[in-house]
Amino acid sequence: MKVDLKCIPGRKGFPVIGEFLKISKQGVRFFEKEKEKYGEVYKFRMPTGMVVGFFGEKSAINLLKHYGNKVNIGNATKDLVGPVYPNSIMLMDGEEHKRDRSILMEAFKRQALNEYIEKLPKIIRQTIAEIDGQQQVEVYPLFKTLTLRIAGKLFFGIDDEVFIDKINKAITPMGQAMVSIPLNIPGTIYNKGLKGRRFLSKEFLKLVPEKRKNPGADFFSKLCAAANDDGETLTDEAIVDHLLFLYQAAYDTTSWAMSYLVYNIAKHTQWQDKMREEVNDLDIGNIDLKTILGLEVSMMVFNESMRMAPSVPLTIREANEPILVDENITIPKGTKIWVSMAMSMKDEKHWKNPEVFDPSRFGKERNEHKKCPHAFLPFGAGAHQCLGRVFAEIIVKMMMTELLQKFKFSVPKDYVLPISEFPIMRPKDGLPIRFENL
Ligand code: HEM
Repeated sequence: MKVDLKCIPGRKGFPVIGEFLKISKQGVRFFEKEKEKYGEVYKFRMPTGMVVGFFGEKSAINLLKHYGNKVNIGNATKDLVGPVYPNSIMLMDGEEHKRDRSILMEAFKRQALNEYIEKLPKIIRQTIAEIDGQQQVEVYPLFKTLTLRIAGKLFFGIDDEVFIDKINKAITPMGQAMVSIPLNIPGTIYNKGLKGRRFLSKEFLKLVPEKRKNPGADFFSKLCAAANDDGETLTDEAIVDHLLFLYQAAYDTTSWAMSYLVYNIAKHTQWQDKMREEVNDLDIGNIDLKTILGLEVSMMVFNESMRMAPSVPLTIREANEPILVDENITIPKGTKIWVSMAMSMKDEKHWKNPEVFDPSRFGKERNEHKKCPHAFLPFGAGAHQCLGRVFAEIIVKMMMTELLQKFKFSVPKDYVLPISEFPIMRPKDGLPIRFENL
C-alpha cells in the first residue's frame, strides 16, 4: 500500500538502502539525532520502504499497548520476519494471534518452568566447565552456546552437540536476515538466512512424525499434541515455524542480556560482591522458582543492565487507521511506525542520571521503574509482550548464581565494551572477561 507521508517531516534518504548503513553504525543514536532535527515524529527510508519514527515520551507504550486495534504487527513485520519465520507469532494479530499465543504459553506456565529448573543445572554446569582452567574467556559466544543448548534440550529434546552446532550456524544468519538488505543473491546475509531457514525447517519437519508417535517431555512433543478448544491441532509447518521462532527469540536476546550484565558487574565490582553475597549459599541443583524470582539484588542488576542496553531496542507496528499524534500531526493509515523502548529507558524525565549504571534505582527505596512503568519496557508491552520473560530471568539468575560462586571476574580498568547495536545487540569483540577461581 502506497502511503502519502508528505505531511510528516524528515527526509527520503538514499534510494533503496535509505538510512540502513547509518542506523547500522549509529544504532539508537541515529534516532536521537534525527529527533533533535525533526521532532518526535519523522520519516526516513529503510530498504523495505519509507517508515515513520515515533519517539515521544509515551510513544512506545502507546503503540505497543494503548492503541490496541489501531495498529497491527503482521503487515508491519511481514517483509522482515516473514521470509525467515513465516507463520510465526510475530506475524499474527487478533484472534489468530490469541489462539497461537495461548498454545505457546503452555511452554511458560509454572509447571513447565519447574521442569526447566530441574534440567537447567546440568546444562549450566557443562557450559561453566568450559571456563575452568582459562584466565580469559569471551563470554558472548559461550552464552550463545548456553542458550542454544537450553533451547535445544528443552524445546526440541536435542542434546546432540554436533546438531546444536549446525543449528547455531543456521540460526545466526536467520536473525540477521530479518534486519538486513533483502537481496537474495549468494553471499548476502539475507541469502544465508533463507538457506538457514530451509535447512532447519527440513531437519525439524523430519522429526515431527516421531514426536507425534513417541512424545517426550520437550516442548516440541507438547506442540504436536496441542489443540485449541475446538480440537484443532497445528499443522506440521506451523509447529516447526513456532519452534524456530522461539529458538530465535530466546537466543540472541538472552545471550546479550547475560553478557551485558557480566560486563557491568565486572566493571562495577561492588555490585558483583552484592550479588555474590545474595546467592553464595544457594545450590542451583536444589532451588525452586520462588527462590529464584525472589533474588532481589540479582533482579536489580538484571533490570539495570536491560534498561541501559536492551536486547530489543526497537520494534515496529503498522497503522490500521489514521493516528492523531497531536493537533499538528496525523500518521496516515498503512504507515509502518518504529518506536524505541531503548529511548524510553534513557528518558531523563523518568530516570535519574540515565547514562549511569545504578541498579539501586530498582531497589525498594527508589523504585524508579514503578513510578514510570510506561518507560521500562525491556520485554515490550501489550498483546505481543515477551512470552519468555520469566524464563529468561530464570536462565540468567541460575547461570549467574553458579558463575558467582565459582569465579571472581573482571575487565581491565580502561576497557569499554564495543557494542554493535544493529542488526542485533552484540559485543564486537566477544566480550573477553578475566576469570579467577574462588
Ligand atoms: C532477556 C531476554 C529477552 C528479551 C529482552 C526479550 C524481549 C522481547 C520483546 C521486547 C518482545 C516484544 C517485541 C514486540 O513487541 O515487537 C518479545 C517478544 C517475544 N519473546 Fe522475548 N525476549 C527475551 C527472551 C525470550 C525468551 C527466552 C523467549 C522464549 C523462549 C522469548 C519469546 C518471545 C516470544 C514468543 C515473543 C513474541 C510474543 C508475541 O508475539 O505474542 N523471549 N521479546
